Amino acid sequence: MKTVTLTMPLDMHLHLRDGEMLETVAPLTSYSFSGALVMPNLVPPVTTKEMVSGYKERILHATGADDFEPYMTLFYQNYSRAFLEEIKDDIIAIKLYPSGVTTNSEGGVASFDIESMRETLEAMSDLGIVLSVHGETNGFVMDREAEFMSVYEMLASNFPRLKIVMEHITTRDAVEMLDKYDNLYATITVHHLMITLDDVAGGLLRPHLFCKPIAKRPNDREALLKVALEAHPKVMFGSDSAPHPKHAKESCGCGAGVFTAPIALQLLCEIFDAHGKLDNLQAFVSDNAQRIYGICAEYKEVTLSKREFHVPDIYGSVVPMKAGETLKWSIERVD
Ligand code: NCD
Ligand code: ZN
Repeated sequence: MKTVTLTMPLDMHLHLRDGEMLETVAPLTSYSFSGALVMPNLVPPVTTKEMVSGYKERILHATGADDFEPYMTLFYQNYSRAFLEEIKDDIIAIKLYPSGVTTNSEGGVASFDIESMRETLEAMSDLGIVLSVHGETNGFVMDREAEFMSVYEMLASNFPRLKIVMEHITTRDAVEMLDKYDNLYATITVHHLMITLDDVAGGLLRPHLFCKPIAKRPNDREALLKVALEAHPKVMFGSDSAPHPKHAKESCGCGAGVFTAPIALQLLCEIFDAHGKLDNLQAFVSDNAQRIYGICAEYKEVTLSKREFHVPDIYGSVVPMKAGETLKWSIERVD
């Protein structure tokens, strides 16, 4: 049987929520990943040292694992240098949301005025704190990411020592941007490697595939696949697994977010195997992220094999992508 062993897999973009939802989803990630970059878009957002440490403790408690590291983030606001110096050892990135573009982003940045952001972004450059960005405008839904490219250019050129991660990229434009600026990097989700807008809304509406940024055209998906499969050194895996309870997805006014945490590695094996690129998966799910973020992940080896896995209909209150379907790969062992 075909098998692959991944060493220290990392999910560099993850929503864990809080309370009961956190209890449900955190163990699903800590089982098969060594660590994850935890998004700060709680209600209210994570903006203080106390909030970061309290949330980290609740995550560790919910996982019950001693071989999983939640890499913490702050919700972007203009912060003082003194505050950033004080918090730099507790976080590895600050997540910037343009105001109102996705779930719980209301307190995000309303206008990209470089001068007002300068103190924060320069301090982040000096202290080695990564800027992680949800790159969408509030324009026409299919064009939002493309329209945001000029903001990435402005940030990358004005702050050349700041590491900027374009989160969950979905377009060919974003892929092309990667090689234009040394300090731009990207995460890619597993669902954006698999689906286009057609899968979401081309037939019966599929609410569990609805997320921000929305899946785009076949040509965009091809561009993402190319850089993921070759494990382009500036690209990392970030699931953007974003759980919402079933009633909030299967409703009038479906929340954005695809829940993939428990099936992400199995799906990645399937995709990389189908293209004869399994050898590049290690770099895509771990090595690139460790190098880009300068982190040394908790030791864990995850062995997967080409044996069928039946995806549960629901985990707690959350319906996963591929619910009730059979995947080609399963997790065999975690050491
Ligand atoms: C995320 C969420 O639900 O928090 N939703 C999503 O569609 N990806 C927020 C985000 O990352 O945009
Ligand atoms: Zn996200």
